[in-house]
Amino acid sequence: MTPRRAPAPTLPTPTIKTPKDFLSLVDFDAAALDRCLELSAQLKAGRVLGRDAPTAQALASRHVAMLFEKPSLRTRTTFEVAVCELGGHVIGLTPDVALGKREPVADVARNLERWVDAVVIRTFSQRLLEEFAASAPRLHVINALTDEEHPCQIVADCLTMRERWGTLRGRTLAFVGDGNNVASSLALACAMCGVNLHVASPDGYHLPTSAVQRATAIARHGARLRLFTDPADAVAGADAVYTDTWTSMGQEAEADARRRVFARFQVNEELMALARPDAIFMHCLPAHKGEEVTAEVFESPASVVFDEAENRLHCQKAILLMLLTWAPDL
Ligand code: CP
Ligand code: NVA
Repeated sequence: MTPRRAPAPTLPTPTIKTPKDFLSLVDFDAAALDRCLELSAQLKAGRVLGRDAPTAQALASRHVAMLFEKPSLRTRTTFEVAVCELGGHVIGLTPDVALGKREPVADVARNLERWVDAVVIRTFSQRLLEEFAASAPRLHVINALTDEEHPCQIVADCLTMRERWGTLRGRTLAFVGDGNNVASSLALACAMCGVNLHVASPDGYHLPTSAVQRATAIARHGARLRLFTDPADAVAGADAVYTDTWTSMGQEAEADARRRVFARFQVNEELMALARPDAIFMHCLPAHKGEEVTAEVFESPASVVFDEAENRLHCQKAILLMLLTWAPDL
């Protein structure tokens, strides 16, 4: 029998403001993000308790639908396992639901609201996701990636950094590559957590101005966001180096052009040597070895990529508990 020594996770209490939906990192304020990370760590430690965990029936008789309009390994699997381990039921919708094409987005939302408690959606447009969530006031909607944001990924990344460093405040993270959905959510989280973020991108691929403005507006504890065009400048002295694919889902037609534009932005051993000696390497995955990262860096002891992937599970459990079991602040 498995030894049962891990601390039991406690169910959250509604003392923190929680939103109806988690569409953007900023749907959590700093206190909610902090609580989410605490709860994620507790759930991780308590997973060994299995069906004896106090959260094992937290979502009993609750239904969570999942709609993915883009491919996924990690997000889909971890949400399914998370709902199952919280005692809930998952419904995998097929992409032929075709948000906004077969019937209006608002009608899909208003149908689902009558049957299920939450929907996890991976789609293209953040605006469409917002329209969906606004159309169904009783349905909890979770962003599983849009062209603009990937908030669940970044909560898991914050947990991964906390596990390494204890506290995030005052650290410096360098993101090397496209100013994409992952980079935008990272900018918001770093600002909230007091982490300095250096983003190195080629001209024309910088973080969107809207993300820079939002991150700057919510910055705490002196967190500074700086944009660079030379990866070496961004990485110098950093505590962590993060990269992502040069070609995000939906941009496949641009792949060849992007390979040329981003060639100078590869994370390799030479670049990692400019960071702190104990710097970690991060990637949301899937990785393209030989493009945005070399196999040597990906496989090196500095690499925490599979910790990030594991933490998706624990953090998404925490997000589900916060949204579905705390009184929403509508
Ligand atoms: N990192 C991430 O979201 O992975 P998937 O695309 O496989 O879900
Ligand atoms: N930026 C990538 C992230 C994949 C998890 C994409 O959108 O395809």
